Amino acid sequence: MRIPVVAGNWKMFTTASEAVALVRSLKALVRDAAGVEIAVCPPSVNLIPAAEELRDSAIRLGGQNMHWEDEGAFTGEVSAKMLKEAGCHFVIVGHSERRQYFGETDETVNRKVRKAFSAGLAPILCVGETLQERESGRTEAVVKTQLEGGLKGFMADELKTLVVAYEPVWAIGTGKTATPEQAQDVHHFIRTWFEKTFGPAAADGLRIQYGGSVKPDNAKVLMSQPDIDGALVGGASLKADGFAAIIRAAVS
Ligand code: PGA
Repeated sequence: MRIPVVAGNWKMFTTASEAVALVRSLKALVRDAAGVEIAVCPPSVNLIPAAEELRDSAIRLGGQNMHWEDEGAFTGEVSAKMLKEAGCHFVIVGHSERRQYFGETDETVNRKVRKAFSAGLAPILCVGETLQERESGRTEAVVKTQLEGGLKGFMADELKTLVVAYEPVWAIGTGKTATPEQAQDVHHFIRTWFEKTFGPAAADGLRIQYGGSVKPDNAKVLMSQPDIDGALVGGASLKADGFAAIIRAAVS
């Protein structure tokens, strides 16, 4: 039995006071939620205020990105250790917006995944194809390349806390969600690749989130697919009641 994991990716939204208010509302709404792991990923400058507000809550905290080096002259970057000390459990790695706008490659993603594990953070590794790649029939090839690159050099027992997020780029922030069948097909492909690469136990335990325009009204049908173990939610995670509804959809 895989416990679903629902994470909110707040992207570059919320000031510190807004982040605290959002966390406070969410906490009250999901206090009784059981059988689901919940996380919020605020902008890095708001992690510590959010962590303070989450002190008496089971909601976990995650970073949205990090550098692969321990420390150094990397203006504007945050390290794994900084995220850890701020109270993070998760870190999103290789989000398509980072790949698209900030030059992230499978190689840098691989280094980040490695550093996340060594710092005791659970990486949420994002993969997914563009519309053009889907329309030219390359979805599986693209996802496979991203998995091979991002997870190069790992042994199965190092990946116990890994979460993979399948996020078709064409579905992110567009209001266009993959159909449950389209999503399930790729999730199944990811689990099968994992099984071939890391063995059946690792594949069976791997949690694969779906992301891309997840909303309260489509969350349930997506997460009831056999290989969909939760959601990575952008826009809809910025409203406490909507995000709480998505969390409830993961449980039922
Ligand atoms: P969205 O974003 O829910 O706003 O489509 C998802 C994501 O980018 O993680």
